[in-house]
Order: sequence, then structure tokens, then C-alpha cells
Amino acid sequence: MTFYCFRMGVTRTLNVDDVLKRQTSGELKRRLRGRDLIGFGVGIIIGTGIFTLAGVEAKSHAGPAVTLSFVIGAVVAGLAALCYAELASSVPTAGSAYTYAFATLGEIFAWIIGWDLLLEFALGAAVVSRGWSGYLANLLGLPQSLFGEDATVNIGAVLIIALLTAVAVAGIKQSALFTNALVLVKVAVCVLILVVGVFFIKGANLTPFLPDAQPPASGAGTLHQPVVQAALGLQQSVFGIAGMVTAAAIVFFAYTGFEALANLGEETRNPSKDLRVGILGALGICAILYIGVSLVLTGMVHYTDIDEGAPLADAFNQVGQRWVGALISVGAVTGLTSVMMVELVTIGRIGFAMGRDGLLPKKIGEAHPKWGTPHRMTIGGAVLIALLAAFIPISELSDMVSIGALSAMIIVALAVPVLRRKRPDLKRPFRVPLSPALPIVAALACLYLMLNLDVLTWIRFAVWLLLGLAIYFCYGRKHSRLATEEKVTPKATGEAPPT
Ligand code: ALA
Repeated sequence: MTFYCFRMGVTRTLNVDDVLKRQTSGELKRRLRGRDLIGFGVGIIIGTGIFTLAGVEAKSHAGPAVTLSFVIGAVVAGLAALCYAELASSVPTAGSAYTYAFATLGEIFAWIIGWDLLLEFALGAAVVSRGWSGYLANLLGLPQSLFGEDATVNIGAVLIIALLTAVAVAGIKQSALFTNALVLVKVAVCVLILVVGVFFIKGANLTPFLPDAQPPASGAGTLHQPVVQAALGLQQSVFGIAGMVTAAAIVFFAYTGFEALANLGEETRNPSKDLRVGILGALGICAILYIGVSLVLTGMVHYTDIDEGAPLADAFNQVGQRWVGALISVGAVTGLTSVMMVELVTIGRIGFAMGRDGLLPKKIGEAHPKWGTPHRMTIGGAVLIALLAAFIPISELSDMVSIGALSAMIIVALAVPVLRRKRPDLKRPFRVPLSPALPIVAALACLYLMLNLDVLTWIRFAVWLLLGLAIYFCYGRKHSRLATEEKVTPKATGEAPPT
């Protein structure tokens, strides 16, 4: 009986039909089209990953083979995106992965995934806002003591978060228009890098393409060793195949964000088609740009000479094309703005879905009557992000974004075959080919990349999960909407009564 009660609490599932009925509640406004979603997608995907991490990882882990790291990242993200596209087009909802897990695997998995996604997007926005502040300082000559990584209180990061929160709360259409404008500049800069940079590629810089494995220059210690190497007792090394895969796990950060689109199912005019077009279209565009830009970067400058602060702008300065370097800085400031914009929009939607289900306070699950946006969660999340961004030098926490995204993708991939078994009748405008094989491969590929992140990242991730579980058992489990329904009728969960 005790075991039954525990199970009742944590594995109860949402009824898919109830989730679908919410589509017609109209709390959030259906204002987005496929092209807005592609804009949002590219807006959140292209950011620090390509503007900074590509160069950092070429220099520290992979050499020119960082291009292959981006190819690996694209394949893993692509597999996960197919799973997202099936679930998003058949169960379009503001909670995305969180709600899919709730409808398939159970409440505790849903909570973990929601908690995970909040980590991914909040930390992502905080990291990016500090990066934005630094780029702006470089561009306009602003004081590093207020805008740089060494600032005691990073004023630039706080200001940009406050400004973007106002736009995010004002309305989804305003957010989409603003994001689309920023995306055009950002994509134009990436195309400029490709078109001009290709003339400065030297074969010598790309040889050897995969530098030989070697021990790290300074003994980095076990905490900074990929968890798989530490577990197998292998000697720590950089470059070679292992270095290229480590770089793939780290630059996976660059692909994170496409999942945000799946949260816009209740605000999309034709979710069954537009979500699939948005997710796969945005990821495809970004993968092509990333692979091209990383090849151009390592072809223009020998990987040992890459500047880790502003790799792309500096590469053009090194070949005497300063005007391109300046335009890239403008593109970086613009690009990072749209990443934060979409991250703020996403945090609002995930919290909204969790509040609506009672796992977070119910007020969070109510949209603003006039603006039609989840204002409470957006503002609450923004305050937390601004606090993190103001005080904590969080650059090394970007790996946390990758681990959060990858773990959520594993649950999404597993949810595809589970939902097919549970609800074979559901209308699926898009189907992952070769299910369950392909979703299982997607889950294993995500796990493999996670294992290539370092020990410290895993420890921090475990602490975050334990904190989340503590909150769930103290609050969410009791206040869950399903818990209330269970009191009325034990059938609400679809579980058999105890014997
Ligand atoms: N994918 C986003 C970036 O690269 C988070 O900044």
C-alpha cells in the first residue's frame, strides 16, 4: 500500500486528451507562423556557441577537427530534433518536453525535465548576457569594470535582461518581430564570414586536420576530465579523436535552443505543420552555417593562434580585414540579444505549464489577461537570471547548459516510442522514421555526449537535480493538479486501484 501511494504520487500521468483540450482554451494567443518559428529558432540557436566556443574548442581540444565536432553535434541534435518534431506536432503545448514526459513517463520525470530545462535556459541567458555585456564594451569602449567579466556587479548584463524582459512580457508577436529583425543581422554576418573568409583559407592551417592526442598543457585535474575518461581510469588527453568528441560535447551548447520552439505550440497558427518546419528548418540552417564558419575560422588562422576572447573578429583582423572584424562584433552583440530574448520567452512558457499543473504555484500558470503572456514566470525568471548574471562569473557553467539540454533530449527521445504504444490512435502529422530504433539511437547519442562532459559538470548537475527533487517532494507532489484530482477520484490518473 505504501509503495502504491508512492507510485501514485510520482508516476501519475497527464491524459493526452486533456493536454490537447488546452489548445482551445485560448489563454495564450495563436499569432505565430512557420517563418516566425524559424526566426525564433535561428534567434536562439546561433550565439556564443559559434561566436566564441568554436574558437576556444579548436584551440583547446580539437584543432581544425572542431569542424567535425560541429558535424557530430549536428547529427545528435538532428536526431533529437526529429523526436521533438513528432511530439511537438502531435501534442503541441506550452510545456514541450516537460508535458510530453508528463503524458508518457509520469509526473516525477516531468518535474525533472522541467527543472532541467529551467536550468538550461536560465543559465544560458545568464552566460549569454555577460558575454553580450563584454562584446558591447569592446565595441563601444565602455568600462570593463561595469561591463566586463571582472565587474563586481555586471551592469550591462542586468540592463539587457531587464530590457528584454519588458519585450517578452509585452506580447509574443512583439517578441517575434524583434527576434526576426535581430536574426537577419546575425545570419547576414555569418554569410559574410563565409563569403569573405573563404578567400583567406590556407591549406597549411588545416594540416594536420586532426592533431595528435597529447596531455593537456597544464595538468587540469580529474574534475576537468571527461567523466567517461575518469570512469575508465584513462590518462587525460586533448586533441586526437577523444579531444574532437570532447569538443563536440562542449560545442553542443551551440545547437541548444531549438527545443524552445516546441514550447510555442499553443501560440502557433498551424502547429501540426509549422512546428515541424520551424524545428527542422532552424536546426538545418544553423548546422550548415556552423560547419562552414568553423572550417573558415580554422582555415584562416592556425588553431594555435586563435584568440579565445573574440575568435572570429580577431581572425579577420589577423588577415588584415578589420572592417569584417568590426561587423562581426556588431553581429555578435545582435546575435546574443536574440538568444536571450528567446530564452526569456521559453522560461515563461515552461514555468506557465508547470504552474498550470500545480507543480509550481498556480498563479504562475495564469497568462496576463491583456498581453496574453506568462508574465509572472517571465519576470520571476528574469530576476533570477539578472542576479546570477550580475554577480557570478559563469562562463565555465556553459557546460551545464549542454548537460541540461542533453538529458532533456534523452527523455524526449524515449517518450516517442512510449507515446506510440500508449496512444497509437493519436494524429501524428510527423513521424520519426524507424521508431523505436531511431529514438533509442538518439537517446544513446545524447548520453554519449553527456559522458564526454567533465566530472565537475556532472557534480553540479547532480546537485541541481537533488535540489529539484527536494522541491518536488516538499511542494509539487502535494500541490499537483493530479494529486487534487486523485482525492476526488482515484481513476483520474488512469492507474488501477490498490488491491
Ligand atoms: N545555442 C545558443 C548559443 O550558442 C545558446 O549561444
